[in-house]
Parts: sequence; C-alpha cells; structure tokens
Amino acid sequence: MKFTAILHTVLLGLTAAFSLPTEPSNKPSLPAVVRRSRFTDRLNSLSPQGPSADSPGVSYTQNWAGAVVTAVGYRTVAATIRVPALRLPPGAKADTPHAVSAWVGIDGEHACPNAMLQVGVDMYMNHSEPAYWAWFQWYPNLSTYLTDFAISAGDSVTMNVSASSLSAATFSITNHNTGKTGISTLADQAPLICGFSAEWIVEDFWDSDGVPLVDFGSIEFVEAMFSTDLGVTAGVEEAKLEGVKEGLAGDPVIECGKLGGDALTCSYTGGENS
Ligand SMILES: *[C@@H]1O[C@H](CO)[C@@H](O)[C@H](O)[C@H]1NC(C)=O
Ligand SMILES: *[C@@H]1O[C@H](CO)[C@@H](O)[C@H](O)[C@H]1NC(C)=O
Ligand SMILES: *[C@@H]1O[C@H](CO)[C@@H](O)[C@H](O)[C@H]1NC(C)=O
Repeated sequence: MKFTAILHTVLLGLTAAFSLPTEPSNKPSLPAVVRRSRFTDRLNSLSPQGPSADSPGVSYTQNWAGAVVTAVGYRTVAATIRVPALRLPPGAKADTPHAVSAWVGIDGEHACPNAMLQVGVDMYMNHSEPAYWAWFQWYPNLSTYLTDFAISAGDSVTMNVSASSLSAATFSITNHNTGKTGISTLADQAPLICGFSAEWIVEDFWDSDGVPLVDFGSIEFVEAMFSTDLGVTAGVEEAKLEGVKEGLAGDPVIECGKLGGDALTCSYTGGENS
C-alpha cells in the first residue's frame, strides 16, 4: 500500500500574537511535522467479509472515517462540529501524544490525483492536557496552522472550504464560542483541483512515528453541506460512509452513521495499544 505523505508544518510567521506558556506544561506543543496520507486506504476491497460488527455498505480504511460524495463540480463543502473532550485509551502511555483530526475537504478521493482542499481541527492529548489546532491546506502545499485561534472542548466550530474556480479557494473556520473566524483566500494556485469529491472526515492521521488515536468519544458534523458549480446544494443523504480499522482482521476503531440528511456522527469504538 502506497501512501504519499503530506508534510504538515508550522508556519509561525503568519500570525504575530503567539506567546509561549511561561510554566512547564503537558499541553501538547504545536506539532512540528505531521504526515497525512493522501488517500483513503480501502481495506474493504481486500476484505469483503469483515467481522459481524461491521455495518453494511461501509468502506473501511486505515485512516479516514466519515462521509464522501463523488461526482463532478464540487465547489463548497462545510459543516459544524462540537469539539469533543479527549481521553487517552485504556493502557495508553500518557507521555505519548494521541490525536485525531476532523476536517472537511474537496478532492480527497482517488479520482483527483493533483490537489486537495482541506480545513479542519487537529486534536492532541498529552498526559491529561488537550490541544486543538485549526489548519487549512491546499495539497500538495504544506498545511497552515492558525496559531492564535483558540479552541476548547465543547466549542462549536464551523469549517468551510469554497472554491471560486479550480485554482482559487477560500478556507474559513469559525469558533462560535469565541466569535472568531480565521479566513484565508488563495488564488492562482497550482495544481488545479478537480471538484470530483467532497468529504467530511475524522482522520486517524499518521506522522513520522505514527500518532496513536485518541479517544474522542464522538464527533458530530451538523449542517453538513456541499454545493456544486451548477448551484446544486445538498447534504450527506447520498454520501458513502467510511470507517477506520487498524488492520484487515481487526474491529473498527471509528464508526460513523448518518443523522438525517445533513448530519453524521463518528464515534471512537476501540483502542490501540499505545
Ligand atoms: C508532553 O508533556 C511533556 C511534559 O510532561 C512534555 O515534555 C512534552 O514535550 C509534551 N509532548 C508534546 C508533544 O507536546
Ligand atoms: C503552493 O505551491 C505552488 C507550487 O506548487 C506555488 O506556486 C504556490 O504559490 C503555493 N501556494 C502557497 C500559498 O504557498
Ligand atoms: C462557505 O464559504 C463561502 C465563501 O466564503 C460562502 O459563500 C458560503 O456561504 C459559506 N457556506 C457556509 C455553509 O458557511
């Protein structure tokens, strides 16, 4: 299985007001390097007969859970999440940061080999201290973290990426509890997006050492919507669901289900052993 790594680095120069904690803290530091896999890794196609706990019609991957629509002309994808409290799984090493990421994107599926748009929140737990970081990315460019954008458990956060053409997009993220919006518009970008998929994803992401999955309880995406270049707007009614398994024989560690036409929930269902 081939993964093309995405280098996820810190662009500190973008925001001026960023002060370091004055006391020693367990709070996870801003990740220096995170590698996200470019595409979902479809265990389902290799393992048509999964354990009985598997939900029918769900594709399992090693890293992405959530919902995906595929066709042509996707230009906007958005959703609002309630930021979850985090816990280390039973038996987890407290000094190993555990993580998960929730994001919305365009062109994450295999059909578009060139580019991918994403905006979301990385969530880390180190000892008992959580840290939440908002970011956006025009793959294959590096992702940009919003270092002065506060996020806490329980906050309601809207993520939105909207492409005005195949080479320009506006990424926005709003924390309704702080009233703050981070917004960035990129124009004249290359490579071009395709607009072949829109997705709402909870990612068990990888970095150079592998980041173990944190117990996030569940993450609900509400007001999940996409729109197309022809002005069609819809939710997740027609979306395919994905879940995460660590390996072919394993039980799912993230399972997702739809909650009506414009919402879905993804739940942590199992632990990794570190
Ligand atoms: C985790 O907390 C320890 C302090 O207990 C700190 O030294 C370490 O840098 C933290 N790890 C990360 C990734 O922030
Ligand atoms: C993204 O990378 C392309 C080259 O691949 C470059 O032309 C463009 O300016 C980059 N955009 C940003 C925002 O860094
Ligand atoms: C998403 O962003 C676009 C462009 O900034 C905006 O026109 C649209 O109303 C936003 N949609 C949602 C659901 O927030």
